[in-house]
Amino acid sequence: MNFLILNGPNLNLLGQREPGVYGKEDYKALCARLERFAAAHDSRVTCIQSNHEGALIDAIHNAPGNVDAIVINPGAFTHYSYALLDALAAVKVPAIEVHISNVHQREAFRRQSVTASACVGQICGLGFFGYEAAMLYFLDKAER
Ligand code: DQA
Repeated sequence: MNFLILNGPNLNLLGQREPGVYGKEDYKALCARLERFAAAHDSRVTCIQSNHEGALIDAIHNAPGNVDAIVINPGAFTHYSYALLDALAAVKVPAIEVHISNVHQREAFRRQSVTASACVGQICGLGFFGYEAAMLYFLDKAER
């Protein structure tokens, strides 16, 4: 399968940013891990990170015909970006929303996702493994 792995604002700072919450590994390590995971499952990943809402929307618009599934961590856009919600709803490519941290154990505003309703499901609190779990879901589904 071809996966688009989309990461939103501030996720380029993984490793430096609140390591107690997001871990010590950086964004490069996340992408390398997902590339290895994909290769082990006869698949490929395209990893895109942007701090800009429009760039994430453009990447979602570009997904149909290019990838089979989207794994998206919209960062803080999760909590208020109706534009990202609309972009995910506009394309027929299925998406899973991933959060590295357990958003339910944090500030109240993080408990609300405006983007998850356009996704097949949401995974949170499993660290980097959450991205792999999302990919596994799609791989399993494709085999059935
Ligand atoms: C996050 C959780 C969001 O609330 C936060 O704004 C992020 C990262 C996560 O991966 O846990 O930037 O999406």
